[in-house]
Amino acid sequence: MDKIRIQGGRPLEGSIAISGAKNAGLPLMAAALLTDERLVLTNVPRLEDIRTMAALLAQHGLAVEPVGNAGRALALGGRISNTEAPYDIVRKMRASVLVLGPLVARVGEARVSLPGGCSIGTRPVDLHLKGLEQLGATVSLDGGYITATAKGRLKGATIVLPFPSVGATENILMAAALADGQTVIANAAREPEIGDLAACLVAMGARIEGIGTDRLTIDGVAHLYGATHAIIPDRIETGTYAVAAAVTGGSLRLEGGRIEHLGAVVRTLSDAGVDIVPDEAGLTVSRRNGLHGTDVMTEPFPGFPTDMQAQIMVLMSVAEGAAMVTETVFENRFMHVPELNRMGARINVHGASAIVRGVPQLSGAPVMATDLRASVSLVLAGLAAKGETLINRVYHLDRGYEAVEEKLAACGARIERVGG
Ligand code: EPZ
Repeated sequence: MDKIRIQGGRPLEGSIAISGAKNAGLPLMAAALLTDERLVLTNVPRLEDIRTMAALLAQHGLAVEPVGNAGRALALGGRISNTEAPYDIVRKMRASVLVLGPLVARVGEARVSLPGGCSIGTRPVDLHLKGLEQLGATVSLDGGYITATAKGRLKGATIVLPFPSVGATENILMAAALADGQTVIANAAREPEIGDLAACLVAMGARIEGIGTDRLTIDGVAHLYGATHAIIPDRIETGTYAVAAAVTGGSLRLEGGRIEHLGAVVRTLSDAGVDIVPDEAGLTVSRRNGLHGTDVMTEPFPGFPTDMQAQIMVLMSVAEGAAMVTETVFENRFMHVPELNRMGARINVHGASAIVRGVPQLSGAPVMATDLRASVSLVLAGLAAKGETLINRVYHLDRGYEAVEEKLAACGARIERVGG
């Protein structure tokens, strides 16, 4: 199994091209199930999760083909020949559940393996299912599978989400695009990936108002059509490399990074002593002087993203003073803490909060990656630390960070992948 070896303590200087957003690309690919025509996506990141979604759509009957030879555009299209999303694919990637809404809206049936819990929490999909039921689908659970059926078209409805779930908003939005009549999703999630999905659906012929707000109004249409859509840059990758600049005391230009997608990350970094200067094509991030501890609480967008919690904890670990980091979105997302403590961090977890007492420097150690964002937090810690860090189980990283070693090495990091 591959490992990543880092010799830390070098300031990063240079430029990193931000890839397309994984969490926008996955629902956008699922949206191809809503039409017989070709959906062409550009700025597609080269990631394991994208390949998993392509495999899932292929077994539903779609052709998924590269366009051109740059490897960054995908054409998806064709007839749906199979409505089952099998356990073997869904267990690898929970976002597989995003085919549920499109399949039931388009062909009136879907059988999707129920995603289990995962290392960051129990992660139920009750809000997805309740929303589809409100649109008139009949939903049942049997043998570990969700079965959703509809006689004819789904019917528009007003759906008030008790929590602004990203996935539930996406599934309901895609289903509502083809429903009969008007659907309102109140307390909808407002993450930029949802705006991107909505923009693509509009390009495909959907009628959606309120994009970017917590109230989406969808007037269903009978058919959607082909379109070409560019995936937005990955805001979490942007934030992650911003932390890399800060913790190494360097300066990075993040090409394509968009400040308006970073939400509360900008204020937190600024309070901690990091400069972020936007221009028309990206951001430049550098450290002003020392770093200061700042409290952080994760929240739905535009609050501080849970997908940046592990990374900001690394920054707080080497900042002066203490910081309280509170996780409100997932119940078990502190698996990186014992690993960071092995590198000399001083973090104590109390329920949903962690007290981080800054230390002058981390020290390299062998550590174990447990999920995507925990893994990248160990990369950041390794870059900041004195000495060698060896990260095990790096396959998690390949699910969501494109060419992480190449991008960092080009900015002066001593980082390499080692086999076995
Ligand atoms: C999306 O997951 C992202 N994944 C996650 O990114 C991200 O952490 C999360 O949104 C929050 O921003 C993709 O976009 C593919 P949610 P999702 O539904 O849609 C509870 C990463 O590292 N909930 O907003 O699954 C749930 O258990 C990943 O890239 C219900 O109770 O997130 C959680 O506590 C990890 N019932 C909270 O809501 C439901 O039916 C937020 O989940 C749905 C969710």
